[in-house]
Amino acid sequence: MRVGVLVSGTGSILEALLHADLPVAVVVADRPCRGLEIASEADVRSVLVDRRDFGGFGESFDRRRYTEELVKTLVANNVDLVAMAGFGTVVSKELHDAYPGRVLNTHPALLPAFPGWHAVEDALAAGARVTGCTVHLATLETDSGPILAQEQVPILPGDTAATLHERIKTVERRLYPATVRRVLKEMQEDPVSAGLTARSRP
Ligand code: GRF
Repeated sequence: MRVGVLVSGTGSILEALLHADLPVAVVVADRPCRGLEIASEADVRSVLVDRRDFGGFGESFDRRRYTEELVKTLVANNVDLVAMAGFGTVVSKELHDAYPGRVLNTHPALLPAFPGWHAVEDALAAGARVTGCTVHLATLETDSGPILAQEQVPILPGDTAATLHERIKTVERRLYPATVRRVLKEMQEDPVSAGLTARSRP
């Protein structure tokens, strides 16, 4: 089993996946970022499929062509399971067609609460006392695929987005590797249906 990890940022979740000894075959980034350096330092193959070569970050971004290139890269590296770890590009259906039920994501809130890019800020602004993280199957509709694992994280008085996000990520660094491992095991035991039938484990 070979895992492809998609990153855009600081890569601390990627680091946790690597420390958990998961079979990460390739790390793909959509922009230059620390995640690529973490991959190189760990002697894991890293590839930059740069958004700037596909129209960048504005209206002119060619999402379909970008996703096709991403799929090409994952397939060329014989990836079986895709794990998004702070990936900042919304992909089009080509990725899900190539990896049906085989794309995982971790989100810093208790979905379906607080979907979207600003989940941590939104939880704070709503005055919530508890938030958390969710590992789920990624589907075409952002942050709404079947939930694989969730864990609560308290919001403490005086929290900023930074302190709260770090508390959430501490949990993600444990929960995501454990869930990826579980999915890989299910894929090995039952390659046909694993991943397609997500089990909710609050
Ligand atoms: C995580 O909180 C993840 O849920 C979100 O992006 C963050 C990635 O953190 N999608 P890092 O860049 O791996 O530190």
